[in-house]
Amino acid sequence: MRILTGIQASGRPHLGNVLGAIRPAIELSKNPANESFLFIADLHTLTSLKDGKQLRENTYAIAAAWLACGFDADKNFFYRQSKLAGYHTELMWYLSCFTPFPMLANGHSFKEKSEKLANVNAGLFTYPVLQAADIMLYDAHLVPVGRDQRQHLEMTRDLGGAFNNQYGENTLVIPEAKIDETVMVIPGTDGQKMSKSYGNYIDIFLDEKELLKSVKKIVTDATPLEEPKNPETDNVFKLYSLVATNDEIEEMKANYLAGGYGYGHAKQALHQVLVREFAKERELFNYYMNNIPELEQKLQEGEAKATIIAKATMERVREKMNF
Ligand code: ADP
Ligand code: TRP
Repeated sequence: MRILTGIQASGRPHLGNVLGAIRPAIELSKNPANESFLFIADLHTLTSLKDGKQLRENTYAIAAAWLACGFDADKNFFYRQSKLAGYHTELMWYLSCFTPFPMLANGHSFKEKSEKLANVNAGLFTYPVLQAADIMLYDAHLVPVGRDQRQHLEMTRDLGGAFNNQYGENTLVIPEAKIDETVMVIPGTDGQKMSKSYGNYIDIFLDEKELLKSVKKIVTDATPLEEPKNPETDNVFKLYSLVATNDEIEEMKANYLAGGYGYGHAKQALHQVLVREFAKERELFNYYMNNIPELEQKLQEGEAKATIIAKATMERVREKMNF
């Protein structure tokens, strides 16, 4: 089975991305029956981020995070969309000639972004067509994405269907979305969903001092140190429960209920388990960020492998189209 997913390069990866997306995708990629295509959607990111230096830095940080968390770039496909831009945008153009204007105009994601932004560019509008091309260019069967991407996957299937209707059923492979409804929403430092756009995220790859600073930002209630505290409603405890061992979780719970244990203590404990549980990932992340040529090489190898697949698909598509 071919599994494919794209990640925008709009910021550095955080604890929510690692637990909610990176780890589950790596688990799927370990199945010997699967082939995983994982790419950095830097062309999509350009719709919102224009600073090339920033885009490049984010791209490296995301690539380093995936490798640090154990993604096997040799067994799988690991690449930057921009390095195969010719294929992605060519297929996008063909698909765009099958895209009804209202499909894009009524897109949830487009409507939401265009209400928020002062500058609504055409890239934001045609975003789902590029995404459809990203997926069908590699004959992907399964696309694991968050709930917010459900409509983009439906559009992909519609466009693939319309295209095949014209040029033959075996022109493009129609993918399925894999939306895990049970996936936990990791809370941020303010208790809302952790997200780069809310500025409430914990970057687990920061150095220890900086990491402690961001852990200290977690919002707690005003219960005095001596009094018992409710673990069910506290953000520090919630985050601790996601990374600590069962014994540690039980111990912290007992401390909360007993009183005499402050949120400051809990934050120190959370910081410690983050550093311990992600020790290997933190070390590898730093290794790659300090050895960019090695990271580049991994990406370039992935891009060479991806090119073979993309080229074959486009040859098939052009032939069906009589181009
Ligand atoms: P952000 O909200 O920080 O911009 P993205 O939308 O780029 O994050 O998400 C990238 C991936 O990480 C998606 O698959 C998304 O479902 C997952 N993810 C992001 N934030 C969380 C979270 N707080 N809890 C669980 N998964 C998350
Ligand atoms: N739109 C996706 C997001 O914002 C990123 C993305 C681009 C993607 N191309 C893709 C996801 C192809 C899956 C498949 O998260």
